[in-house]
Amino acid sequence: MSETQNQRIPILDLRRQYQSIKSEIDQAIQRVVESGRFILGPEVESFEAEIAAYLGVPHAIGVASGTDALLLALKALGIGPGDAVIVPSFTFFATAGVVANVGATPIFADIDPLTFNISPASISAALKAGTPRRERVKAIIPVHLYGQMADMDEIMAIAHKFGLYVVEDAAQAIGAEYNGKKAGTIGHIGCFSFFPTKNLGAYGDGGLVVTSDDELAERIRMLRVHGSKPKYYHHLVGTNSRLDALQAAILRAKLPHLAEWTRARQRIADRYDELLRGIKSIRLPYRAPNRTHIFHQYTVRVLGGKRDALRDHLAAQGIGTEVYYPLPLHLQPCFRHLGYREGDLPESERASREVLSLPMFPELTREEQDRVVEAIRDFFEQ
Ligand SMILES: Cc1ncc(COP(=O)(O)O)c(C=O)c1O
Repeated sequence: MSETQNQRIPILDLRRQYQSIKSEIDQAIQRVVESGRFILGPEVESFEAEIAAYLGVPHAIGVASGTDALLLALKALGIGPGDAVIVPSFTFFATAGVVANVGATPIFADIDPLTFNISPASISAALKAGTPRRERVKAIIPVHLYGQMADMDEIMAIAHKFGLYVVEDAAQAIGAEYNGKKAGTIGHIGCFSFFPTKNLGAYGDGGLVVTSDDELAERIRMLRVHGSKPKYYHHLVGTNSRLDALQAAILRAKLPHLAEWTRARQRIADRYDELLRGIKSIRLPYRAPNRTHIFHQYTVRVLGGKRDALRDHLAAQGIGTEVYYPLPLHLQPCFRHLGYREGDLPESERASREVLSLPMFPELTREEQDRVVEAIRDFFEQ
């Protein structure tokens, strides 16, 4: 094997991105350190204004993580004990964890097998007369998984019919669009994560809540500082959940590059599609009409029960992959008391057995991509 063939291909390499914008990042960090302003202040305010303009929303509130963005959104809506919230079963844990953490009950819906996003039909089924906990449902949290938005027209129509709030979990979908509208801007509240691996990632934890509602924005601004306004006068019981000023400065340096990074991801996805098409056991990511996919992940289905063997084969060749997510949330041990059984949400369960995310980041080279595809072809030709 040649030197390059021996090199590992990670699923994501954050160091390459840093090297490409090193001076901008270093200056941003230095600016904050020299300013002595670490909590809220001008960097956070400027970032909030810049990202609000990017998303086209009146209010953007920086918080400590994507999880806290969801948690504060539910608290701002007054959702708590006795309430229920409909969430997809096939998502990162936080989407449902926050529901339990405000004392409410998650109701798990199944997914559309093409987009992996919450199925409007499954939401409607959960709201049918006679369904347990139906009366207590206050909100729906659609997740825009892997960087492609859920079917927001249908979800908003259901929400309107039943008088429910919609909190978009746009943690994986910054910049994705649905009929020209950006992720996070269609529901009552939109939530984002700046976890380092996200398309717009900080160098630590960070999150954002957006809304067009002035009153909700005000509540969320208070909730992130223990519900106070002014300082030491508490109207709500909130928590400490602020976007760190250093992270805000880093995100300000990165935001102008986001569009170009997204285009690079989309080019890589197009090329994967082209090179993998024709492999019978692989289902390529579906791209729904009227939506732009920002390819936070490039996730294929591996049919015939071969997903884990393919993953091992790629790992043996130094190629990183990941399974997002191996166990749907309705079957997680911590939700056993809710009484779900295997077979209840078949598409979520099938996705958990079949999905595999391949190396995807803007700096992935054509040679690396060729090696990934060759290794996949090798496996199926064995
Ligand atoms: C779909 C989804 N929701 C919520 C979160 C939570 O974000 P964080 O890790 O910033 O708390 C993440 C990311 O980790 C996510 O992918």
